[in-house]
Order: sequence, then structure tokens, then C-alpha cells
Amino acid sequence: MITTATHPAPSGSYRAVNLADKLSLLHEQWSQRVVAEINDYQFKIAKVEGDFVWHAHAETDEAFLVVAGELRLEFRDGAVTLRAGEMFVVPRGVEHKPSAAQETHILVVEPRGVVNTGAEHNERTQPNDRWV
Ligand code: NI
Repeated sequence: MITTATHPAPSGSYRAVNLADKLSLLHEQWSQRVVAEINDYQFKIAKVEGDFVWHAHAETDEAFLVVAGELRLEFRDGAVTLRAGEMFVVPRGVEHKPSAAQETHILVVEPRGVVNTGAEHNERTQPNDRWV
């Protein structure tokens, strides 16, 4: 069961989280929004296009699932391309640079509080814990 501890979801209602519906509410690229939590982990959606920055997360793995489009994850020693329905887990501490040639819709799963740009802080850094 997915809990929504910090989200004001109506209790007693059983509603699916529809990722396409949630994504339609996002108008800004590279801006992650939380759609659900499970224990200390969050499911976050984003629309991405172009290049993100090289970064790593020293404390945690990070899972990417592509909902629509195509996401490329570059690593210092290789790369993986994810299409709709495909996912990949970036191990903790591994430098990665996401990019997308065209607008791509993704779901990211990681612990609450992870900074999207890792140890780097720049124009791509986004505040945490914003729900949609
Ligand atoms: Ni990352």
C-alpha cells in the first residue's frame, strides 16, 4: 500500500495515481513533483528535455522509469537508453548525466530529501517535497 503521510489526500478514498494525468499538470521541465510515498521513499514525476548536469548521489541509489519518450543516462564509462516502460537503477555514488533529445516523461524513485543535482547546486537544483 502506498501511504501519503505528508500529502493531503482524502482519507477513505481509493483513487489510482494516474501518471499521465499528473504529468499533464506539469508545465516546467526538470521540475520533479512527488506523486506518492512509500515509507521514506518518494515517487516523483518530471518532464525532461535536453541535458541535465553530471552529478552523483553519495547516499542512495536512484531509480528511473520512462513513462513516455526516451531517456539517456550517461555514465563516465558508458550509457543506457531507456524507452517507455523501461527502467534503470543508478547505484549510489555513480556519476550520471540524464538527457533527452525530445521531451520525455519520467518517474524517479528515491528516498525523500534527495537533492536532484546531488552535491552540485546550480540552476537545475530544485526544491524537494513538492507534490502534484
Ligand atoms: Ni541523479
